[in-house]
Amino acid sequence: MEYKKEYKCSVLSREMLLGDTAYIELNCPDIARTARPGQFVNVSCSKFLKRPFGIASVDRDSGSFFIGVKSIGSGTGEIITLDRGDEVDVLGPLGNGFDLDSFGSYILVSGGTGVFPVNFAAQYLESSGKNFTVVQGFRDASQVVLNRPSYVLTTDSGDCGIKGTAIAGLDTLDKCVCGSSSCIICVGPVPMMKAVSGWALNHSMKCYVSMEQRMACGVGICLCCIVKVKADNKDGFVNVRCCKDGPVFDSSEVIW
Ligand SMILES: Cc1cc2nc3c(=O)[nH]c(=O)nc-3n(C[C@H](O)[C@H](O)[C@H](O)COP(=O)(O)OP(=O)(O)OC[C@H]3O[C@@H](n4cnc5c(N)ncnc54)[C@H](O)[C@@H]3O)c2cc1C
Ligand code: FES
Repeated sequence: MEYKKEYKCSVLSREMLLGDTAYIELNCPDIARTARPGQFVNVSCSKFLKRPFGIASVDRDSGSFFIGVKSIGSGTGEIITLDRGDEVDVLGPLGNGFDLDSFGSYILVSGGTGVFPVNFAAQYLESSGKNFTVVQGFRDASQVVLNRPSYVLTTDSGDCGIKGTAIAGLDTLDKCVCGSSSCIICVGPVPMMKAVSGWALNHSMKCYVSMEQRMACGVGICLCCIVKVKADNKDGFVNVRCCKDGPVFDSSEVIW
């Protein structure tokens, strides 16, 4: 089995983006150097299991990387309180990551905490000089994070950006960015990824999604993070491991 390294990382900074969401910079030159967009890390807390987070950005010069953490329970509630100088154990980088080299241009769609891994994809595409468009979908203005003026912003409530889901944002895009040489990358709540997958199918575009199953080991051993993908067998599907075979999957192969 491939050996994954565990590192003791010190917290370099923590910024609260929202009342319940922190942007945390961790010192780890190895992860900063080797991580690919779409990969994740497992971060320790006082609970039994580490918690998985998409890598949100890397700074190769300073040897650090960032994660965005939304507090939804005991582990994340503890991790968002980490402060400069604190140390955590980090396993990673884990998972397959996005293919950001094979297509001429990309549409990056995100919502919720999906904005964090998608931020790293945007950073990569920007530095490699590729064309890309970003569509972000949030519930309302109070949830908006990591937004830039060039991004297409949608909110369910309509209190900022276009009123509607990310699909309303995709519908505003120019036809020339929606061709078959373009690929959609989507990370967000399952209903968003499912709807974006259907939109991609209607536009004859490839779409990749990053699944966020509940995880334990994070390295393919415990089989607790199963995703069903289509297969040419009597059942019509096979079970694959989100942590090891994903978390990024071709959306047309996922059984939603
Ligand atoms: C590959 C991957 C990447 C992720 N990236 C990020 C990220 O960038 N930022 C971020 O804030 N979160 C991310 N998550 C989700 C994060 O790992 C969970 O929120 C965290 O593990 C919850 O831990 P907890 O102890 O706070 O919650 P718990 O106390 O364990 O659970 C609280 C509640 O949340 C539910 N829950 C826990 N984990 C998940 C999950 N994975 N999906 C849906 N519901 C869940 C539980 O069922 C429970 O209802 C990611 C998850 C995966 C698998
Ligand atoms: S979390 Fe253990 S196999 Fe995926």
